[in-house]
Amino acid sequence: MLYIGVDLGTSAVKLLLMDGNGAIQKIVSREYPLYFPHPGWSEQNPEDWFTKTMEGLKELMADCDTSQVGGISFGGQMHGLVILDEKDQVIRPALLWNDGRTYEECDYLNQVIGKEKLSAYTANISFTGFTAPKILWVKNKEPENFARIQKIMLPKDYIAYKLSGVHCTDVSDASGMLLFDVKNRCWSQEMLKICGIRKEQLAKVYESYEAVGVLLPEIAEELGLPKTVKVVAGAGDNAAAAVGTGTVGDGMCNISLGTSGTIFISSKKFGVDRHNALHAFAHADGHYHLMGCMLSAASCNKWWMDEIIGTQDYAAEQEAIEKLGENHVYFLPYLMGERSPHNNPNARGTFVGMTMDTTRADMTQAVLEGVAFALRDSFEVAKSLGISIERTKICGGGAKSPLWKKIIANVMNIKVDVIESEEGPALGGAMLAAVACGEYKDVEEAAAKLVKVTDTVEPTPELAAKYEERYQQFKEIYPACKALFDVIQ
Ligand code: XUL
Repeated sequence: MLYIGVDLGTSAVKLLLMDGNGAIQKIVSREYPLYFPHPGWSEQNPEDWFTKTMEGLKELMADCDTSQVGGISFGGQMHGLVILDEKDQVIRPALLWNDGRTYEECDYLNQVIGKEKLSAYTANISFTGFTAPKILWVKNKEPENFARIQKIMLPKDYIAYKLSGVHCTDVSDASGMLLFDVKNRCWSQEMLKICGIRKEQLAKVYESYEAVGVLLPEIAEELGLPKTVKVVAGAGDNAAAAVGTGTVGDGMCNISLGTSGTIFISSKKFGVDRHNALHAFAHADGHYHLMGCMLSAASCNKWWMDEIIGTQDYAAEQEAIEKLGENHVYFLPYLMGERSPHNNPNARGTFVGMTMDTTRADMTQAVLEGVAFALRDSFEVAKSLGISIERTKICGGGAKSPLWKKIIANVMNIKVDVIESEEGPALGGAMLAAVACGEYKDVEEAAAKLVKVTDTVEPTPELAAKYEERYQQFKEIYPACKALFDVIQ
């Protein structure tokens, strides 16, 4: 049998075809535009996601024995608000996970409703990127749009809806809405009331590896696929990436270096960080996870390379970097504000420490190191909860860089396991489809059989010690700039 994994990302949709033994047959991708209508706002058109997904699926299916396709599933950018009217038309562009406009609604939720109540209802507090404050923003700022809402959905669920006709979501993605009782894996009545919405407007919730239905006949025909192809709930991109890197069961860690940067820790038990600095979400393997999310990770390097230096040759820029652990330049990677652990939409990207002998390579190095240091901030929160992590998997576009992996291994002082494919969410999506079609007993069995570690990047005591000193300095910069970030808005 063949399985399709769809990674609905922020810059592009990536589609992957996998056979039942885990061999990747083909990968295609299609880009779509991202709009920043105001500083700190971030939007996309759901119709673009669907058009490009269909285009990609057609290319993926060319030259393949389509009769063998058993299922399709997803890893999708999380938290985005998609709203449909009574005719199933998209009401307005989707507000994305890295959109910072909802700071007033977040203050209302965190201060007026109160963090304790939010955490009791949902296991989380409000961050600007989460879905509930976006719903409140539409209610407050666009009441005419709010009044038209018939269906509320997350980005990948819009694709599942267009393919199957089923208004569905999965437990991992639902967790990031701040409407979901994560511990009990169901919608929180209290949160629906706080946001002024009805349960009928929300999707039916599935486990990530459950089939929600099959392809609509007209879609099956357009793609040349059997009408029996299962549409499987899938997961938020981080949970799907964790499946794709074998980060399932208890105490495993994955770092994703995509547009966002995340550190993901799987757990068989439900648990919440006392200060809610880490997200406590349901996992796609049927259990739970903790996660820290920085809003700009590989996107910082992309911005620095494409927009500022003006090059496409990332590898050549990194070859010029020689002084690991000795850089006197620091970079705060908060180009879209920051989520974990600072929760501050006003934070901004900042270079500090340049002198007349600072080189272009030092600045490039500072960008890579700044992302690693910021991930370490979330890692420190996990350690403070008594979680001990000695090794991590890694995936996402940034994981292609050997230098970045070395920096991360030494900044965190942990082993970084490199796996055969860094296609985290798309591969995880295909694996979830395979589980739903009965190819594997459960997600843990699929991960054990399909995910192979091909290399390990080990920290060295000397470099890790140098980076420890640098990290202690890095930690001083954000508190020193914090008041300034509020002034320069
Ligand atoms: C996770 C998050 C991001 C997006 C990126 O909480 O907001 O990782 O899922 O696609």
